[in-house]
Amino acid sequence: MAMEISRRTFIKGTAAAGVVLMSGAYLGCGGKNIPEQVRRGDVTYDVLVIGSGGAGMRAGLAAAQNKDLKVAVLTKLVPTRSASTMAQGGMNGVTGVTDPKDSIESHTFDTIKGGDYLCDQDAVEYFAENAGKTIFEMDYMGYPYNRQKDGHFHQRKMGGSSYPRAAYFEDRAGHAMVHALFEQCLAHNIDFISECQMLEISMTDAGKLAGIVAMDMRSGDLIGIPAKTIIIATGGYGRAYWVRTSNPYSSTGDGIVAGMNVGIPFKDPEMVQFHPTGLSVNGVLLSESSRSEGAQLFNKNGERFMSKYAPEKMELATRDIVARAIATEIEQGRGIGEGLTAGVYLDFTKIPPERIHERLGQVYGLAKRFAGVDITKEPVLISPTCHYSMGGLEMADYKTGATRIPGIFTAGEMFQCSCVSVHGANRLGANSLSEVLVFGKTAGEGAAAYAKEHSYEGTQDQLAAACTKWKDHFDKVTARPHTTNRTVPEIRDAMVNTMWYKAGVFRDGAQLEAASKELRALEEDYKNCYVGDSSHVYNTAFEQYVELGNLLQISHAIVQGAAARKESRGGHSRRDFPKRDDVNFLKHTLIYKQPDGKYTAEYKDVVITKYPPKERKY
Ligand code: FUM
Repeated sequence: MAMEISRRTFIKGTAAAGVVLMSGAYLGCGGKNIPEQVRRGDVTYDVLVIGSGGAGMRAGLAAAQNKDLKVAVLTKLVPTRSASTMAQGGMNGVTGVTDPKDSIESHTFDTIKGGDYLCDQDAVEYFAENAGKTIFEMDYMGYPYNRQKDGHFHQRKMGGSSYPRAAYFEDRAGHAMVHALFEQCLAHNIDFISECQMLEISMTDAGKLAGIVAMDMRSGDLIGIPAKTIIIATGGYGRAYWVRTSNPYSSTGDGIVAGMNVGIPFKDPEMVQFHPTGLSVNGVLLSESSRSEGAQLFNKNGERFMSKYAPEKMELATRDIVARAIATEIEQGRGIGEGLTAGVYLDFTKIPPERIHERLGQVYGLAKRFAGVDITKEPVLISPTCHYSMGGLEMADYKTGATRIPGIFTAGEMFQCSCVSVHGANRLGANSLSEVLVFGKTAGEGAAAYAKEHSYEGTQDQLAAACTKWKDHFDKVTARPHTTNRTVPEIRDAMVNTMWYKAGVFRDGAQLEAASKELRALEEDYKNCYVGDSSHVYNTAFEQYVELGNLLQISHAIVQGAAARKESRGGHSRRDFPKRDDVNFLKHTLIYKQPDGKYTAEYKDVVITKYPPKERKY
């Protein structure tokens, strides 16, 4: 093993040297965010990845193993600013390193049980088989894992896991992952198209993929980018819950809406995950690894209340159970504070301070900066925060990442854009980063294989026409006067109140019906809303207008799916239907957007292999 470690160290050293050189190439491209050939319109990408998070970059990297293919990654931010960087706890996978008793079977079962049996079990088996391999792959790429004394990486135990299986770097697991992948993408000559917001996927009249239309945020230019295949890896939509989310401002569901617009269904939108421990003050995540390292939950009476809700697993029960326990304590008057910032205590004081600094440095800093609390000395107020969506664009084939529309692939969350149905109705902590890596790679390979076998069937004219349409739209909406029209922030604030209080941790039929009416009224307001800024350079007002339009459509789908699912399962908890109903709802929701903008729903059976549904107990 000593040999093995030194070999890896050598690889890391070599990779690091390469990266310094390649980063120079990226940063030295004249400060341009878009490669010249894209501006000139004389490149057609074989694989164009939308989104530069873990899934997007892993997909790009897999596609770029084919040296003859032209591969690009487009992002509305800059490549290392994606939501994946905010993932804290780690990446699950069975490696045989930290606990030899762990097994792929156990990872599979924990995931299915954690997902409250809404997982497609064949996809989970594939995931668990490959998750451990990705941990080793990241090691080869230079991921700076926290290590044990003997040099092996260490794995921690996250909620709902039977064994310690989350490999990590401190509590910055996603940050380290994105940087390691970015380095590799640079070393593989992938083009980066930064600060460009995708506005639509463009299809020919014959239903063939032409490419995408994006707005260059730096100049306001509209650009059409031809592509044989695209991989939608744009992350999730936590901002539907605006101020009570751990997601970045950029998590606005853009890729899901673009995918729905070309006929891909939105699968299981009602399955939203509320992470138990967001800072009460602003929803920012305090990692589940806090509880993995020994942090405990207390109500205002000093009771360690998890003993009532999950006597065996306590704070390390699954997220849906812990989040509901906290919400119940607050609702029943045992919380501290009022309204959106009410919470309970997360107490770290039993953890030695040096361990907090070694493994929970980011959590320490976040609590200090935002709540003014030194967690080595006193507890901090936390409450549930919208963290993740188990739903997303339907992935029709988990072995290629293909959607049902030829040429369009999808991958990832952190925070979810595609739905492979690995997480079912509730995702386990640290299953996300490994899912991103497993299915990012799969989608990259799937898209590359497709690109090799197909020729480009769109036209530049078509993309130019789509750009003109968007330019006219920009001119029209930014010229609206501020008379009585509601503004983008006003509509957004109303949306969050509807979503948090009527489609949040707990739901019921009457509230969902009210939410649906309120969203319809907001959609009407949105049609004439005031945008204000008509300038072209970094017009974030227009960007936020587009994002709000996406969030309203996403919210609509969440509420429609939640209203129709008359049961409680995982993260979807109906007060009027408190039990899981396997007879009627062991199935996935598929929401389609029709050409007139209306949504219709269908259902699809869950794939069961060898784990028949049972009651969950923790
Ligand atoms: O709590 C956390 O560190 C989050 C991890 C995850 O969502 O997997």
